[in-house]
Amino acid sequence: MHKQILIHPTDRVFVLTGAGVSAESGLATFRASDGLWAGYRLEDVCTPEAWERDPWKVWEFYSARREAAFAAKPNPAHVALGELERQLGERFFLCTQNVDGLHELGGSKNLVHMHGELAKSRCEDDCGAAPVVDTRVYGSLDEVGRCVCGARLRPYIVFFGETPLELGRIQDEINRATVMIVVGTSGSVYPAANFVQWARLNKARTIYVGPEAPLNAGAFTVTVEGKAGEALPGLFAIQ
Ligand code: APR
Repeated sequence: MHKQILIHPTDRVFVLTGAGVSAESGLATFRASDGLWAGYRLEDVCTPEAWERDPWKVWEFYSARREAAFAAKPNPAHVALGELERQLGERFFLCTQNVDGLHELGGSKNLVHMHGELAKSRCEDDCGAAPVVDTRVYGSLDEVGRCVCGARLRPYIVFFGETPLELGRIQDEINRATVMIVVGTSGSVYPAANFVQWARLNKARTIYVGPEAPLNAGAFTVTVEGKAGEALPGLFAIQ
């Protein structure tokens, strides 16, 4: 058990999570040897070119991820972050790279999904219609729903090469944070991997929680080595 990390009465906490926080819920991470990118090539299922080339392959991949994610349960890491938010109130902000809904099921309310959400779909033509709730697991391209404008729906997922969601709000929250806690992300993908540097520029304390050092490990003042579901419960002492 790592010694407790004090959260002071004037602290504002920014949490960034990645696939590692859902690993103990049984959801595959991306870059592990048996990870999602071991089974699929990201250029075949997670780029605008992949969507243009073979929309069914993209929907097949995201339908399988919907099936897995909707069957998963929040683990103690999700619950611990939901509890931290309950104790800190509006001094807490969660930004996740994950597209599953396990943070919400673990009690988090004040969060953004910067890479999109599995349980939604959006117009492939970006016609301006809002994303729609869509939990269907599709069996063929013909089954895929249509936008109000008539265009085909695509997963509400930020593909590589596309702009992550809510970056303005994220930047504001990083600028206000005095503590940044990063959980279960390899630091391979930008701009998320830069958030810790931005926090350091604002003199925030920076904490990493995970079983192995991320690529941006040098930017963290504290590293808590371990699985999120084991390390997060009880890690923070709210003063
Ligand atoms: N608890 C905490 N961390 C864990 C656990 C665990 N039980 N198991 C694995 N990890 C860590 C790994 O050590 C690794 O650092 O989770 C991290 C997962 O890294 P990636 O597979 O690269 O996933 P992530 O960092 O979330 O990927 C970022 O890349 O493919 C895109 O859009 C996708 O959002 C994703 C982004």
